[in-house]
Amino acid sequence: MRTDTDAPADRGAMTTPEGGAADERPVAPGAWLGLLGGGQLGRMFCMAAQSLGYKVVVLDPDEHGPAASVADRHVRAGYLDPQGLADLAALASAATTEFENVPAAALEYLARTARVCPAAASVSIAQDRIREKAFLSAHGFGVVPYAVLGTARDAHDADPLLMPGIVKSARMGYDGKGQIRVAARAEAAAAWAAMGGAPCVLEQLVPLACEVSVVVARSGGGHCATWPVAENRHRDGILDVSIVPARVPDALASEARAIATAVAGELDYRGVLCVEMFVTTGGRLVVNEIAPRPHNSGHYSIDACVTSQFEQQARVLAGLPLGDVRLHEPAVMVNLLGDIWFADAGATDPREPDWTRVLRHPAAKLHLYGKAVPRRGRKMGHVTCLAPTLADALAMARAIKRDLAIPGADEL
Ligand SMILES: Nc1ncnc2c1ncn2[C@@H]1O[C@H](COP(=O)(O)OP(=O)(O)O)[C@@H](O)[C@H]1O
Ligand SMILES: [Mg+2]
Repeated sequence: MRTDTDAPADRGAMTTPEGGAADERPVAPGAWLGLLGGGQLGRMFCMAAQSLGYKVVVLDPDEHGPAASVADRHVRAGYLDPQGLADLAALASAATTEFENVPAAALEYLARTARVCPAAASVSIAQDRIREKAFLSAHGFGVVPYAVLGTARDAHDADPLLMPGIVKSARMGYDGKGQIRVAARAEAAAAWAAMGGAPCVLEQLVPLACEVSVVVARSGGGHCATWPVAENRHRDGILDVSIVPARVPDALASEARAIATAVAGELDYRGVLCVEMFVTTGGRLVVNEIAPRPHNSGHYSIDACVTSQFEQQARVLAGLPLGDVRLHEPAVMVNLLGDIWFADAGATDPREPDWTRVLRHPAAKLHLYGKAVPRRGRKMGHVTCLAPTLADALAMARAIKRDLAIPGADEL
């Protein structure tokens, strides 16, 4: 583990393609960009695109979603609604998505008249754990030992070497949802049944030294930029804290970035992609999962980097050159979940946290997503703590966690 936290070598890297295709004509600022999905990732995309001078039209069925409230236009319709898609296509000549479960058919429909990135083919791999693992393995990327559970028989016959393991639904899981830990075959069969008999994977539970992620942007011309590696701590299956730069050896950080760049290349990806990886106790990097969009573990880039993951998403979509991804200084991002609205003992009614506890730190950057209803486990916002040294950024994060009653301050 690297300890020289004062002198981060991991500051952002860019690579150029070997004879990549020429970019198409850029969509100039002032024009419309389209977005499928209305959550917080969409909200931060809107804000970044608007800073560049774009107008954003959001397609989202939810009336009060985080993105809809800042979008220049909100088309309130389902993702497969023909009129909704037509309205979006009428305004925007380029469109992207903020969540991987967007139906591929919606992206394909838009691709008939607009530039759509990422492409439906990339999204459909990332939205299905079975396809994702098959893709990664076929291209030589390390993944944890796993088996596909398609039938009850598969679960009954599961390889005992995969125990203890985790049964994960192939589709629609997020933030630890759609996962059941199992100790033996009989439990695997019960877990598969509890998932409603839907296709699942059974993964071996791997002892982890830590978890890291790399956000990579890849342009239509094949140029790539990777942000510095984030070290991620989870709590109850939900990202709790991202520490940047990750406290891993430089060689491992370089390898993680090379893996992310290679995954994007193999997908012929266009857009912003996150590759979540495990560092095993043996010091090996394996790919956990990929997200075809900006990622919670890349939120630090808004405040800590020259170009944020959301500005980059707009740049790639518009066909503009990639922005510089250099890190200004070390950062620790702390997620704000709905639980802290219920911090008082026995509270049933939510109470707004006292934000002065964050804002009194001059280098703590508060982001709230404008969600009207706080719920336990719901991502309501995040804080990015910036400091000249990682030790100082961690100390700020610890203080803020304590003040807001977020568990785990002492583990940081
Ligand atoms: N095979 C595994 N071995 C050890 N820990 C795991 C494994 N799979 C998942 N986890 C833990 O659970 C978290 C959530 O799992 P993940 O597959 O990333 O699902 P999600 O889509 O909910 O993010 C991971 O970040 C990691 O902490
Ligand atoms: Mg994950």
